[in-house]
Amino acid sequence: MKNLKEQYGNIAMITGASGGLGEEFAIQLAEQGLDLILVARSKDKLENLSNTLKSKYGVKVWVKIADLSDSSDTQKLIDEVKKEQLDISLLINNAGFGSFGFFHDLDGKNEAKMIDVNIKSPVMLTSAFLPKMVQNKKGAIVFLGSVGSYQPTPFFSNYSATKAWNLMFAESLWAEVRKEGVDVICLSPGYTKTEFQENAGAYGQKPLGGWSEPKDVVKRCFSMLGKKPSTIPGFMNWFLAWNIRFTPRRIAPLVSYNLFKPKKVLVKG
Ligand SMILES: NC(=O)c1ccc[n+]([C@@H]2O[C@H](COP(=O)([O-])OP(=O)(O)OC[C@H]3O[C@@H](n4cnc5c(N)ncnc54)[C@H](OP(=O)(O)O)[C@@H]3O)[C@@H](O)[C@H]2O)c1
Repeated sequence: MKNLKEQYGNIAMITGASGGLGEEFAIQLAEQGLDLILVARSKDKLENLSNTLKSKYGVKVWVKIADLSDSSDTQKLIDEVKKEQLDISLLINNAGFGSFGFFHDLDGKNEAKMIDVNIKSPVMLTSAFLPKMVQNKKGAIVFLGSVGSYQPTPFFSNYSATKAWNLMFAESLWAEVRKEGVDVICLSPGYTKTEFQENAGAYGQKPLGGWSEPKDVVKRCFSMLGKKPSTIPGFMNWFLAWNIRFTPRRIAPLVSYNLFKPKKVLVKG
């Protein structure tokens, strides 16, 4: 694998680093010797990870506690990082969450917060740190999509729409800045073994593409960064996302509906 520190610079910011894919991003970047800014709400988890990475890899780590559903917290994070003159060369917009169920049964306030975490915070962070990357003629930004970015996904309706936004935004930025020395990619995993499904209230899913390991998903992201505007780890996940583009628009949501429908729909027939 290419050396990310040599290619992009010394400091990476990872949002949602307290577990799952974010923690794996932090580990793989620390292995390559990058200093890290770890962001999430769970102070203890971030501090434990920070101590492990500092002692194992000898890197510097800054722990930043922020609730990214609150724009004033996101702005405070940006202001602090700029004040401390931490020059971010790799931004991993990883923090995110979903919710599973009929949209009319879900909590509207939580759905609006999902837009703040999954969309608004990547906009604010990218807008804050991309100009310097362009000026330095080096840097990289990762966005987290999902296989749900590529298709309407009933019962994950709002979530998959936020992930479609990440895909579109990342691919557009990729074209805008690729000649400025900045690489952008949207990583769109299928089902991955993290706490995501449980936090979303989705249980007992049997994904067609199987379950991926966070380690493989993050490796795939870094191996494709600088080569492609977007990547989908796992052949079956890629095939399903590719295939849907040939399905009529009326049929695609109905296929997903039948794949994802919660048990109570089965009971109702
Ligand atoms: N796992 C999958 O199957 C899958 C598939 C496709 C895409 N993804 C995407 O991958 C990304 C990482 O998810 P994951 O699978 O690693 O899930 P996870 O284990 O639930 O981790 C989510 C991370 O996001 C952080 N986060 C959530 N809400 C936040 C908030 N309001 N403010 C700050 N941080 C917040 C959490 O930290 P705190 O709770 O400590 O704040 C945690 O570190 C997400 O964008 C998700 O949409 C996951």
